[in-house]
Amino acid sequence: MFGKRSTTDGNGARHILPPQEVAVAAARPAETKVTAVEARAPARVEPVAQERRHSEEYYDVKTTVFNALIDTIDLTQLAKLEAAAAREEIRDIVSEIIQIKSVVMSIAEQEELLEDICNDVLGYGPLEPLLARDDIADIMVNGANTTYIEVAGKVQKTPVRFADNGQLMNICQRIVSQVGRRVDESSPICDARLPDGSRVNVIAPPLAIDGPTLTIRKFKKDRLRLDQLVKYKSITPEAKTILEVIGRVRCNVLISGGTGSGKTTLLNCLTASIDNDERIITCEDSAELQLQQPHVVRLETRPPNLEGEGEITMRDLVRNCLRMRPERIIVGEVRGPEAFDLLQAMNTGHDGSMGTLHANSPREAISRLESMIMMGGFQLPPKTIREMITGSIDVIIQASRLRDGSRKITHVTEVMGMEGDVVTLQNLIVFEITGEDAQGKLTGRHRSTGIARPRFWERAEYYKETKRLAEALSAAEVHDSRGVPMGDARG
Ligand SMILES: Nc1ncnc2c1ncn2[C@@H]1O[C@H](COP(=O)(O)OP(=O)(O)OP(=O)(O)O)[C@@H](O)[C@H]1O
Ligand SMILES: [Mg+2]
Repeated sequence: MFGKRSTTDGNGARHILPPQEVAVAAARPAETKVTAVEARAPARVEPVAQERRHSEEYYDVKTTVFNALIDTIDLTQLAKLEAAAAREEIRDIVSEIIQIKSVVMSIAEQEELLEDICNDVLGYGPLEPLLARDDIADIMVNGANTTYIEVAGKVQKTPVRFADNGQLMNICQRIVSQVGRRVDESSPICDARLPDGSRVNVIAPPLAIDGPTLTIRKFKKDRLRLDQLVKYKSITPEAKTILEVIGRVRCNVLISGGTGSGKTTLLNCLTASIDNDERIITCEDSAELQLQQPHVVRLETRPPNLEGEGEITMRDLVRNCLRMRPERIIVGEVRGPEAFDLLQAMNTGHDGSMGTLHANSPREAISRLESMIMMGGFQLPPKTIREMITGSIDVIIQASRLRDGSRKITHVTEVMGMEGDVVTLQNLIVFEITGEDAQGKLTGRHRSTGIARPRFWERAEYYKETKRLAEALSAAEVHDSRGVPMGDARG
């Protein structure tokens, strides 16, 4: 049986490899040996869902034991085992190594060491406990000794550390090799995805000066829904109804926001209002959306291969989409010349298309869109581009992460038209910060700006949604101390 190796060395240690191969294995540096498992998806192990802080000696012992372990076993053989059997195998050998090396350790410490080593060999090493947690939004590894996470909107440092940059690089390599990519000095930037759908970016030295830098946006199995956003006070129930109507009546929507402000989440929420009989095509850099409708085609861009060939850009996808008889086109993130094609699609019968974009306000979203089109090499005068934008986009929804870590929808804004050379915007709902409570949490309120008939009223009539819309808009009004509604819809 593979688990009970047949050969024994002078120290009494058993080996999976025959003795001559053990010698060869021992001659190779530890880092290159770990890569033996990189070619396949790592067997998932049951992670321990907590991160522990350890002493320097613990890490020294771990490095010694780990190196001895990978000198002893054949990782490719180990990879063929079920996770439980592989763990059993590692447990046997590690106990033996501890004995041989006369390492003094309590039983509890031994258990922790074993857990750590199993995670290193079979999974994503010290990342495992973080990956197992569901409350983490982002994991940010800045070299072997520094790992930050984002929990409840706040970024915090963790005690998690890697043995060295070599181990971290191996884990990065293992992640990206699962999607057929490679990361090393010659191609130091790489996007990938974990088997669970989490979005991964790796940037390695020499570009990352302080060691391999890994960023993971954890995939939420159950993406948030609009009613949960209400529960988290990101929007009010009235604003939720207005967003539902906007999604249902096929307004063309742009979701604007900063990094990690909740744009993709919001886009996903909005798609929930799409009717089941519509044909939807999604274009994303890394598939994150989870549409519930039955008729969805999901497309993903492709980076160039090692020879720099074969790239499929977002623009290629959006243009191809138009030949696929879409009813709605959803673009995960608009960041380049595809903006032009999306606007054209919105203008030519694909009402209800949606996309997200990085900007800090609805007005900035318009100018970002404009500069994307200008930089895409389209020789159009700025006024024509603006007219194109106003003719295509109906609503801009702004998502923000506030300084207390909370995420809010701060604007629901309509694109009205042009006044001279300027695009006119009209806010329907705005979020106002009113103060800060004793715990440092910002207090504020969402309120309507008093617009009773938004520009998409006719659409709402067509879809028989005016009653719901009017009620929500009126309920969202906030009155001042004299009982007068607080207005001002200028965007
Ligand atoms: N309203 C919200 N309340 C609480 N958490 C939220 C909210 N919206 C999003 N999140 C969480 O914040 C994290 C980031 O969300 P999301 O991926 O939607 O952001 P993003 O703006 O698309 O980020 P990026 O710019 O990196 O694409 C996710 O873990 C998500 O679950
Ligand atoms: Mg996103």
